[in-house]
Amino acid sequence: MAAKKEPTQAVAKLCVNDQTLDLPVVQASEGSSGIDISKVLKQTGNVTLDPGFSTTASCKSAITYIDGEAGILRYRGYPIEQLAKQSSFLEVAYLLIYGELPDAKQLSTWVTRIKTHRLLHEDFKAFFTAFPANGHPMSILQAGIAGLATYYEDTIDPLDPEKRDLQTILLMAKVPTMISYIAKRAAGLPLLYPAAERSYTEDFLRLTFGLPYQSYDIDPAIIHALDTLFILHADHEQNCSTSTVRVVGSAHANTYASVSAGIGALSGPLHGGANEAVLRMLGQIKNSDMTVKDFVQKVKNKEDGVRLMGFGHRVYKNYDPRAAIVKSLTHDVLERMGQSDELLDLAMELEDIALSDDYFVERKLYPNVDFYTGIIYSAMGFPTKMFTPLFALGRLPGWIAQFREMISDPMTRIARPRQVYVGETKRDYVPLRRRQSK
Ligand code: CMC
Repeated sequence: MAAKKEPTQAVAKLCVNDQTLDLPVVQASEGSSGIDISKVLKQTGNVTLDPGFSTTASCKSAITYIDGEAGILRYRGYPIEQLAKQSSFLEVAYLLIYGELPDAKQLSTWVTRIKTHRLLHEDFKAFFTAFPANGHPMSILQAGIAGLATYYEDTIDPLDPEKRDLQTILLMAKVPTMISYIAKRAAGLPLLYPAAERSYTEDFLRLTFGLPYQSYDIDPAIIHALDTLFILHADHEQNCSTSTVRVVGSAHANTYASVSAGIGALSGPLHGGANEAVLRMLGQIKNSDMTVKDFVQKVKNKEDGVRLMGFGHRVYKNYDPRAAIVKSLTHDVLERMGQSDELLDLAMELEDIALSDDYFVERKLYPNVDFYTGIIYSAMGFPTKMFTPLFALGRLPGWIAQFREMISDPMTRIARPRQVYVGETKRDYVPLRRRQSK
């Protein structure tokens, strides 16, 4: 019998001056494999330099796969289009966190556990009044999520699998309540208690918009649309906020602290804050005497660093599959709400002009997930400042799944990048009296 041939381990060669190194290649199941450079410093004395990590994989991950050229996004192997059409946010959350779609019993236990923990501690309500009512919701949310650790101190050990599970449930359960309370406080309206008979997304809407003296009925199509938006945002592999969550967690900080740090990263206008920035940009065009063409010209001239918000992506260079789904949802929601939206017309005009313009075509800039979401959120009644917290709620299971994968991975070490130092070489301290004035 012929001996079974072992697959040959791929290697890459790196020449540094007169030294040649064989670097092992970690095979991907799909997409780019990784050249393992972890020994380069030890063996050559050099570090690798990759600003913005555009060529650097920080980990191995089995959660989300993106092919940016082909416009593919899959969670645990399942195409985003199928999940958006057939699944629910909580089911997708389970899939991301535990790796497989749940069976009926697993799903029911998961949903029930989350529902059971949706109340916030009564004392916690005072927290929302400690900030200015018009303070940005992302800042309040970031502080609130970090603060959960103080109420659930006995759950915070990230190395204990049972406690990790409890952190998972508590975050999934309490963050929507927290976001609703932030919205209510900003509007000066009374807070409601969660209702167990409502679905996760339905009750989030009720807590945000419902009033104690009115029954709250909402079109199931709107609940479904918001649930779908949460699915579309649920994970996106090693983006800025997720990498932040992993970096903070790599120091064995608890999940609340790590997710809270992720919220900070997400708030930036180049990341999750773009959904808010898009609406402001559209409003600015609408309220000025600028035409859409004038605005596009301003972007192309890079005037005052103006960018077309909601366009472009580090990974997608063809189209963002989430944007295509959001665009069709936008039409459905506006129709459902009986609204014609001037901003939608403006957005579509902007998209048409940009997609046929060489500046955007050459740089492969297409609408991303944030381009149309704001229009939907706005039609649903969310104030502009609440858009990024909605992104955060959608992204929550992804952050949790990535945290759990990171903490259980034997390859994980505390994240501690190197640098190429380009500052002054050694010099001696000069006492103040002897320094030349500049
Ligand atoms: N409008 C105008 N020009 C742009 C834009 C834009 N939105 N995005 C990139 N460019 C240009 C950029 O000026 C540069 O041009 P040049 O080669 O002449 O210097 C070129 O395209 C490459 O840009 P980059 O900044 O090197 O690309 P990046 O991969 O570092 O940035 C991005 C990706 C998403 C930060 C960027 O496209 C951007 O700022 N977009 C607008 C903000 C936005 O919509 N963010 C949401 C991203 S999707 C949701 C999420 O995951 O958070």
